[in-house]
Amino acid sequence: MGDYPKILQTCSGETVRTQEEWERFRRPEILALFSAFIYGRQPFEGHIPVCFSYEGEETTPQGWRKRKIKVRAGAMDFCFYLVLPQYASNKKRVPILFYNMFGWDVERAVPLELVLERGYGVCAYPVKGVSPDSRDAFRTGIFQEAGRGDPFAWGEISAWAWGASRIMDYLQIVPEIRKDCVAVAGHSRGGKTALWEFASDQRFALCLSLNSGCGGAATSRDKNSDGESVASITSHIAHWFGDAFQNYAGKEHLLPVDQHMLLALGAPRPIYVVSGTEDFWADPEGELRSCRMAGEAYELYGKKGLVLEGELIPDKSYGDGTIGYRRRTGGHGTVPDDWNCFFDFADKYLKASE
Ligand code: GCU
Repeated sequence: MGDYPKILQTCSGETVRTQEEWERFRRPEILALFSAFIYGRQPFEGHIPVCFSYEGEETTPQGWRKRKIKVRAGAMDFCFYLVLPQYASNKKRVPILFYNMFGWDVERAVPLELVLERGYGVCAYPVKGVSPDSRDAFRTGIFQEAGRGDPFAWGEISAWAWGASRIMDYLQIVPEIRKDCVAVAGHSRGGKTALWEFASDQRFALCLSLNSGCGGAATSRDKNSDGESVASITSHIAHWFGDAFQNYAGKEHLLPVDQHMLLALGAPRPIYVVSGTEDFWADPEGELRSCRMAGEAYELYGKKGLVLEGELIPDKSYGDGTIGYRRRTGGHGTVPDDWNCFFDFADKYLKASE
């Protein structure tokens, strides 16, 4: 295993030993490094004026309430949906699964039946409303509105995370939801985004990363030949990242951070990571490596990171620590069991205090 930047060592070489030192010195440093070298820096709060409008609510055939909210950001707008059980009220508030979706159809993107049956409401976020996930991205959407900034120009993952934080601003005042119980989730590019959203906005209580791979949960160092590398991702999909990331193609050992530190930024909040045994492109070993290494930051809070001793058993959910992990048999997709294992993990944190 190569040399990894140390989670608990500051840029000036000091070792961080307490929560306070972590929060005051090392956490902000790591966050700034991810902004500068991986995802690019989001605009400062207030740089883009934002307001919200309620676009109506319908009752779905299943009897759920589906509400649409529009977010106006300068001269552009994007939207998101809330799907809530009928019973949700200010007296019976529900925890929320916040999902980054890349299409526009909520029913296709989120297993609504399963999620609502588990007692959660859904906040579905079509990220392409903020930026279209294309090579031309920087000429449209939020980039056209806000520019890219300099010198740490933001990429689309940061743009989507910025949009998520605006939605989170709104969720603070929705009477039917438990604003301190919002779990952010996504699959693949949506999983990369979920991890960055979780790191950069501490109002998210919990994170689920499904097959997020390179630029997500998988480390950039120690890539085997089947796994997506910094070189391949930045040659095809550079627009997801800040400009600096591509400089590290083939030079991952020079990166001042690696993705285990992205997970560490979550501490002490719970994270659940799902890989696939055959999802080689997303590098299941690299994802597990991050989960194992990120535990150091959780230990500062007296919490265990990942609890996984002995040989990994596929399909088993390792949910005893604050970092949970499951490696599903199969490739780059999701199955109902991924969700059920995740909710078993999440319930311990989000539903325990009901
Ligand atoms: C591509 C990309 C991955 C990404 C995936 C997805 O395969 O190389 O990094 O995770 O698309 O989002 O589906």
